[in-house]
Amino acid sequence: MKVLITGGCGFIGSHTCVELQNAGFDVVIADDLSNSKAEVVDRIEQITNKRPEFIKANLSDKEECKKVFEACGKDIVGVINFAAFKAVGESMTKPIEYYKNNLGILLNVLDNMRQYGVSYFVQSSSCTVYGEPDSLPIKETSPVKDATSPYGHTKQIAEQMLGFITSASDIKAIALRYFNPIGAHESALIGELPNGVPNNLLPFITQTAAGIRKELRVFGNDYPTPDGTCIRDYIHVVDLAKAHVVAMKRMIEHKNKKDLEFFNIGTGHGYSVLQIINSFEKTTGEKLNWSFADRRAGDIIQIWADTTFAKEELGWQAKEDIDSMTLSAWKWQQRLDEKK
Ligand code: UFG
Repeated sequence: MKVLITGGCGFIGSHTCVELQNAGFDVVIADDLSNSKAEVVDRIEQITNKRPEFIKANLSDKEECKKVFEACGKDIVGVINFAAFKAVGESMTKPIEYYKNNLGILLNVLDNMRQYGVSYFVQSSSCTVYGEPDSLPIKETSPVKDATSPYGHTKQIAEQMLGFITSASDIKAIALRYFNPIGAHESALIGELPNGVPNNLLPFITQTAAGIRKELRVFGNDYPTPDGTCIRDYIHVVDLAKAHVVAMKRMIEHKNKKDLEFFNIGTGHGYSVLQIINSFEKTTGEKLNWSFADRRAGDIIQIWADTTFAKEELGWQAKEDIDSMTLSAWKWQQRLDEKK
């Protein structure tokens, strides 16, 4: 069975291609390479001994999206949609671009799925839809709060659109609400490739340890948490990738209970920024240069997932611990530095 992976050369997309191929699926990647590299296709082949098909396309363009479906629409059982702009800060200054791109891709893809009778859709969603939680761990039934960025808003709108579209068509969908994906494939052949100065914690840590950045700034030390720093549910990207395989299979095997389902994809454990730094220093033996800085605007204090629903319904559970996440991120950084 063949699956179309939009944004398949990106961080989560590439790891998902590997896990899908390992599970016996064929993969077609459609990616415009705006935030990724074509050589990722070679790396996926190196890991799996199977080359995914690759189509360079900007799916927010109606004609380009149509061409992708002309090429593979009759052969695919489903689509996993990773193609999107993803920088929270950038979305504040470029809201129109974010709405046009992220929602344009979604509509174009779903429209073509309908035309070609492709039924199964997995959407890359985010725990950002919950905002600051009222209680923890957070369940899928917790209220979705007002978005604090256009990026987060596109994730919320996408979920709402999928609700109406799945009710009115034969399309079934699963929205996976990711917590904080970090780490890299154990081969260190694929990983995160941040453009410019990283916004996210792990790439900033690894680049600081590699000497690319002078110092990590830990945003805030006066939060109401045990050590004063923010808490997140960090999840290994390979565990996250596997959740997509399970979600796609669930729909193919008609095990889904609703036309649109939501699942939290996290580990169920929260770690503070300082705990992540400690894990990194312990597993890698590197001493990290860091200091406290002011709080970062828009950061929520703490969030971690209730993963009961994913365990019970999907039969999926994260396996990797925090040390394997920080170590694999470091091995990937070292590999990137070797190539320079
Ligand atoms: N942090 C630092 N210093 C840095 C970078 C981050 O202290 O240089 C801290 C942040 O303040 C936060 C934690 O590390 O406490 C995690 O920050 P990230 O930027 O890595 O992740 P976020 O939780 O802010 O954002 C991530 C994704 C978003 C997604 C969001 C959902 O990047 O795409 O989770 O909550 F929307």
